[in-house]
Amino acid sequence: MTRQRISIIGAGYVGLCIAVGFASKGYKVIAIDHDSKKVILINKGIPPFHEAGLKDLLQENLKEGYLECTLDCKEAILKTDITFIAVGTPSKRDGSINLQYVKNAAREIGKALKEKENYHLIVVKSTVIPGTTENVVKPIIEKQSGKRCGEEWGICVNPEFLREGSAVNDTLHPDRIIIGEYDKKSGDMLEMLYRNLHGEQTPPLLRTNLSTAELIKYANNAFLAMKISFINHIADICERIPGVDVTVVAKGIGLDKRIGRLFLNAGLGYGGSCLPKDIKALIAFCKSLGHKPILLKAINKVNETQPYKAIKLCKEALGSLKGRHVAILGLAFKPNTDDIREAVSIKIIKALLKEGARVTAYDPAATPNIRKRLGNSIQYTSSPINCIKNADCCIIVTEWDEFKKLNPKDFIKNMKHPIVIDGRRIFDPTEFSRKLDYWAVGLGKIEEKYYESRKFCTD
Ligand SMILES: NC(=O)c1ccc[n+]([C@@H]2O[C@H](COP(=O)([O-])OP(=O)(O)OC[C@H]3O[C@@H](n4cnc5c(N)ncnc54)[C@H](O)[C@@H]3O)[C@@H](O)[C@H]2O)c1
Repeated sequence: MTRQRISIIGAGYVGLCIAVGFASKGYKVIAIDHDSKKVILINKGIPPFHEAGLKDLLQENLKEGYLECTLDCKEAILKTDITFIAVGTPSKRDGSINLQYVKNAAREIGKALKEKENYHLIVVKSTVIPGTTENVVKPIIEKQSGKRCGEEWGICVNPEFLREGSAVNDTLHPDRIIIGEYDKKSGDMLEMLYRNLHGEQTPPLLRTNLSTAELIKYANNAFLAMKISFINHIADICERIPGVDVTVVAKGIGLDKRIGRLFLNAGLGYGGSCLPKDIKALIAFCKSLGHKPILLKAINKVNETQPYKAIKLCKEALGSLKGRHVAILGLAFKPNTDDIREAVSIKIIKALLKEGARVTAYDPAATPNIRKRLGNSIQYTSSPINCIKNADCCIIVTEWDEFKKLNPKDFIKNMKHPIVIDGRRIFDPTEFSRKLDYWAVGLGKIEEKYYESRKFCTD
């Protein structure tokens, strides 16, 4: 069996992880990026971002000759059979999708296809709103190449569902594969690629048309965001009822098979490069269709206000924040990544500074990225203990495992006032609230009876 050669435009979180995934299974892969610094780093075996398992796999595949990274898009396309588009699709000011990078990639593909002799498959992996592949990407490639889609080249939409923090593993072991196809030939070619890649472990594979596949990605993210905003909304109710804890409520409803436990963790809201921008893009898309996105708007609204719950709890605990020292544990938008795109920590820190607080911060991976964004406005520390030293209050913003190991004594011994605001519900309230001033999202006023009942609430 001859293996198809693969090129991937965009060597970011998605592009580089799938590049390494294909290469690790023996495919020849050329990753393309227009950022020369990234290309140099990748070719040296240094991933430009933190992702578990990525560095080893990258170095191994560069050494074996399965993977290379280049600035030269045209040559990479001419040397390969399938090209994935994995460039960013950020938001415009009004929240609608910015297709600038996708359009540029399509232009470069078109120019290369003009010179290509063999059939070539284009796969849109970037998250794009329904209709983009058919009405934007395809016409640009046809115009630039002078070749009609369905004849000398084909196109598919193949949304990506990897999670940062476990991206390499998710690429190698996906839950499902969605293929939106322009025609049968394109769909067959992509299905074959994945069946050969995953063999007997091929997950459920759904083939559909281009726009349906595009919408599946948005509907998927909207549903996940809805679960988070829903439980955060329930958390608000819990806080107003003595003895009620949202973590127990979530456990109770999560046992319903129709609901499930995942993504029902109350906290300070979702961030990251996908959920916030995708919900906003879907809202803007609905409006362009003349449809009122009532539910989507509510999901977004709950999430936009959620980070400020940390400030509210902080003020309830301390009164005025002027001149107070607040320690922030966690800067990345979620654990096991250094990604700070739309990170809740940024909103919280900016609000604290505005209130006149002094901020120290610690994160196991994201500090260099936050430093680039916030400069010297806060103080960066090298460990959780250094971060909380002499602080008036500590806010848990990201649920890194490292923070779960802290115990009440660590806070009592090191802080000026042992006040902990658990923004991610990582500590046991029965233990913490007995020993220090413990505040948490979704936790009603604690009573002795509550401690008793907690004993029966096992995982
Ligand atoms: N990050 C995630 O967890 C995730 C998960 C699923 C889907 N997605 C989607 O995948 C897409 C990519 O996301 P990402 O997080 O990898 O973005 P990213 O910003 O990390 O990477 C995009 C890369 O593309 C490069 N690029 C842009 N235009 C280019 C061009 N014309 N030629 C060469 N390189 C170019 C950029 O330099 C950058 O390195 C987005 O649509 C995103 O919504 C992301």
